[in-house]
Amino acid sequence: MQIKNSAVSMIIQATSQKELEDVKLAFLGRTGRLSLAMKEIAKLPMEKRPAVGRLANEVKKTIEETIKNHSSGISTQEVRIKKEKIDVTNPGVMPDIGHLHPMTNVLYEVVDVFKTLGFQPADGPEIETDYYNFEALNIPKDHPARDTQQTLYLDTRNSKVNPGEIILRTQTSAMQGRVMEKAKPPVRVIVPGKNFRYEQVDASHGFEFWQVEGFMVDTNTRLTDLFGTIDYVLRKLMGEGIKLKFATTNFPFVEPGVDTYISCTVCGGRGCSFCKMSGWSEIMPAGMIHPNVLKAVGYDSQKVNGFAFAIGLSRLVTLRYQMDDLRLLTNPDMRILNQF
Ligand code: DAH
Repeated sequence: MQIKNSAVSMIIQATSQKELEDVKLAFLGRTGRLSLAMKEIAKLPMEKRPAVGRLANEVKKTIEETIKNHSSGISTQEVRIKKEKIDVTNPGVMPDIGHLHPMTNVLYEVVDVFKTLGFQPADGPEIETDYYNFEALNIPKDHPARDTQQTLYLDTRNSKVNPGEIILRTQTSAMQGRVMEKAKPPVRVIVPGKNFRYEQVDASHGFEFWQVEGFMVDTNTRLTDLFGTIDYVLRKLMGEGIKLKFATTNFPFVEPGVDTYISCTVCGGRGCSFCKMSGWSEIMPAGMIHPNVLKAVGYDSQKVNGFAFAIGLSRLVTLRYQMDDLRLLTNPDMRILNQF
């Protein structure tokens, strides 16, 4: 018993395989304490031998098992200590430092350029009412223009709101009504923000995309002011060397409506999948604000007028960095993000 107790306590105190080996020898080795004790059994009277022999064997087994268990414990500890060893002379490991996403960087630039022209940034809700997204923009119910903006509707079955009244905004133009209702002209505002449409996703269309809407209302605002603003802003953002092209278009909230194209920066105007082989990229629809929009917010459309525009921000970023697919912007792959 005494042998067993002192063996077990020595085993437990052993902190390395070497110490454990020494303890094993001290008890179980040829001249170890237990081995010697076992030799004594032969000298005992016949009738005592079996019982003492059994006891000695049990003690031997206990010692062997305790050594085995403790040995595996020591091994993992030794490995851990080896791993944790710190070499204080090693040079430090630089932590990864993040940076702003290319979308954010370009957005900040856009905001800065417009600030120099006196445009103030405003923020608005992504969950919008049908009224601001469509009605206030001269797009009544059943207007065919609604078909071009595949709208995502919120489930209003458990609310007091009529079905179809709450949507994910399809255009940041929705902020025109919200801002103008509260402000008197002169107004110069830009609204960066996300829009949502039920769209077929491809290299140049996303179901979730960024726009920077902008509008200005004052007395005597002219179409040439709009052209001048677009020209100045796009050259600042995309470089003086770009070519610009304007074409007429139709949006219910502007009259006349204008589409702005810039020479495709991916193919340099030769034609590629990004510009649909045309050499041009549509980047900034715009126009003179329709009198109905001004009337809806209580402005006197005889006294004030203005222009509005939208920059497709996701498109601007892909053109700027010559990416051939807009989906790369929402890809969390660090091999892409580290290039900016
Ligand atoms: N809101 C339009 C769209 O997303 C884009 C647009 C066109 C905005 C003309 C304007 C504008 O402010 O004048 O399709």
